[in-house]
Amino acid sequence: MIVELSGLRKVYEGKLRVVAVDGIDLNVEAGELFGLLGPNGAGKTTTISICTTRALPTAGRVLIAGVDVVAHPAMARCSIGVVPQYNTLDRSCTIFENINFHCLYFGFSRGEARERTNELLQQFHLSERAGAYPAQLSGGLAQRVQIARAIAHRPKVLFLDEPSAGLDPQSRIAMWDAVRALRQEGITVVLTTHYMEEADELCDRVAIIDHGRILVQDTPAALKASVGGQKLYELDLVDRERIPGIIAKFSGLRGIVTVEEIPKGVRILADGVDGLLSEVVAVANAYGLRDLSITETSLETVFIRLTGRDLRE
Ligand SMILES: Nc1ncnc2c1ncn2[C@@H]1O[C@H](COP(=O)(O)OP(=O)(O)OP(=O)(O)O)[C@@H](O)[C@H]1O
Ligand SMILES: [Mg+2]
Repeated sequence: MIVELSGLRKVYEGKLRVVAVDGIDLNVEAGELFGLLGPNGAGKTTTISICTTRALPTAGRVLIAGVDVVAHPAMARCSIGVVPQYNTLDRSCTIFENINFHCLYFGFSRGEARERTNELLQQFHLSERAGAYPAQLSGGLAQRVQIARAIAHRPKVLFLDEPSAGLDPQSRIAMWDAVRALRQEGITVVLTTHYMEEADELCDRVAIIDHGRILVQDTPAALKASVGGQKLYELDLVDRERIPGIIAKFSGLRGIVTVEEIPKGVRILADGVDGLLSEVVAVANAYGLRDLSITETSLETVFIRLTGRDLRE
């Protein structure tokens, strides 16, 4: 195991005591692309901050390539690359300089640093922008520079905190390709996200995290299989006053697993029972159905089943 978290806990003491990480056990194998999927405030950034020596745990332990990050932070940092949730490029330096200074900081000679920087600029298709400043780059390009910089010292593990937050769909796909390419270099990747598609598309294994705890961890396929052929129906109702009535009505239907209120109406998690859709529509029509959407099983369904909430709420 290249990343090992055991009994990890982080409590922020203050006026409001916050248990941000509440006993996390997690192992990531070398070469894996591992995702921490969870909603806002789940404890993703705190977990990554501890793993990358930016925060101290209240209890528990993190080993990176066998090195305890609290006991030997400097040694651990040689094995770690990190792309934080927010852009941390030095705005007064060019792209070339941002990467080059990182290499020098990690003890490369001037010649080695220049060579490594040029190699990365090529690898990430950034050579033409070597002289540009961060402010001149699109979000997607800036993210690529951050990844290039993070792996410049050839870390074993790269931590990416919300790598696609704020990126347009096209840049997101380009970022996914860049991350997949890292795998060919043997770099283990741990990323956080609150986009279920990202976790599903990109990750070998996913841990779903909520309120500082891991609810489940497995391959995306196994997680989806665990909820069977279940579907989500979202019903948009004309009259919200009638929601309690429709919930009571649905709760008695065979094949319906859960029914809950959402801002526009109700959401139903249902088994893939034949004929259920027409029954749902019949009931809903009697209660003023405005619109209906159906979602096939996804990691979102898994999350809702585990927490009763969706990832965006
Ligand atoms: N420095 C801090 N002091 C006090 N509380 C904090 C601090 N940092 C985070 N928290 C709290 O700890 C909890 C977990 O926060 P964290 O940033 O780790 O979550 P996250 O999963 O990364 O969320 P997001 O999706 O918003 O990035 C939240 O309740 C947050 O308000
Ligand atoms: Mg975060």
